[in-house]
Amino acid sequence: MNYRLRTVLTAQLMKFATKAIHAGQEPDPTTGAIMTPIYQTSTYWQKSPGDNKGYEYSRGTNPTRKALEDCLAALENAKFGLAFSSGMGATDAVMKLLAPGDEVITGNDLYGGSYRIFTKIFANYGIKFHFLDLSDPELVRAHVNDKTKLVWIETPTNPTMRIVDIEAIGKITKEKNLLFVVDNTFASPYLQNPIDLGADIVMHSVTKYIGGHSDVVMGALMLNDEDLYKKLWFIYNACGATPGPMDSFLVLRGIKTLHLRMKAHCENGRQIAEFLKDHPKVEKIYWPGFTDHPNHDIAKKQMRDFGGMISIVLKDADLQETFRIASSFKVFSLAESLGGVESLINHPVSMTHGSIPKAEREKAGVVDNLLRLSVGVEDIEDLLEDIKQALS
Ligand SMILES: Cc1ncc(COP(=O)(O)O)c(C=O)c1O
Repeated sequence: MNYRLRTVLTAQLMKFATKAIHAGQEPDPTTGAIMTPIYQTSTYWQKSPGDNKGYEYSRGTNPTRKALEDCLAALENAKFGLAFSSGMGATDAVMKLLAPGDEVITGNDLYGGSYRIFTKIFANYGIKFHFLDLSDPELVRAHVNDKTKLVWIETPTNPTMRIVDIEAIGKITKEKNLLFVVDNTFASPYLQNPIDLGADIVMHSVTKYIGGHSDVVMGALMLNDEDLYKKLWFIYNACGATPGPMDSFLVLRGIKTLHLRMKAHCENGRQIAEFLKDHPKVEKIYWPGFTDHPNHDIAKKQMRDFGGMISIVLKDADLQETFRIASSFKVFSLAESLGGVESLINHPVSMTHGSIPKAEREKAGVVDNLLRLSVGVEDIEDLLEDIKQALS
């Protein structure tokens, strides 16, 4: 394979695992090192002003980050990738494309931090948000007016695993000339590629499945339109929420096993969902792989498998009992975040979704006795034993 075969465009022709391991990465031109070096430098030598090798200052460009961005783009079948110092940094950059008076249509069970940045930061800059249950895509059409500029969705949603029909919303946004952004964090690029289904921008909290080892906080945007890329790159460089080379290296390394990890997350997730479905302590379970999940058919159409994220509502448990159960796991760790190799349990009301007012979150089913499991890739027997003892 020569160098050219690994560029972002030719990487689009490769299959997923090959892209995960090779896209954006070439043997280091100075030493032949197979692994992309950590270019731990803030600045670059210029022979004379402007005479440089394409790198000037690491807020805007860094070779380790560039390799990662090309790899991220390839994973989402996109031409361009931009890495940010967090998922929220990536969201912030997208919202800065808007101007006062613009309106956004979005889901009503978003990640709490997305809800918070929309309502507590960008609403103050004159941007109006409509929070809707977008498992009915026609609600988008019903709420579009001449100020609407952008539709932002998550699917599966966090934490109630609703599925939003990406293709159906993509048709409406195209027709109405709106920017369509999909937060693909829960599915990962292994399970779902929103650009292929009509999205303009895919956003990821790279912190989760893509990084995969709970050791890096990072975000990303992937897209095809060059003018939009230039606008976003301007914001990325001007505002400066870009990740450093060490974090970029760690994520490049994590990505190399994304396909292997996702297979194991999905298989463990399936077995745990089936175990919990009829458990006497479980009142409700949210996992899109069940045939009686209200959007199972759409999940089957747009996802390659159903993932390792599961939420349960505990039967007859008040907040105290919910806390007791959440604290009694031994293999699962009670913690924020998701998507790492280790299993985590989260209480959204007091953790990830604490910034959403009670009435709002309860409308979306985020109740006090809901727990969210991020099923890791440990041995399934140990995970099942742990759940049995915690729920006993
Ligand atoms: C679905 C989703 N989107 C965005 C974010 C924000 O990403 P980060 O924590 O990397 O800033 C998160 C974090 O939990 C998330 O779960």
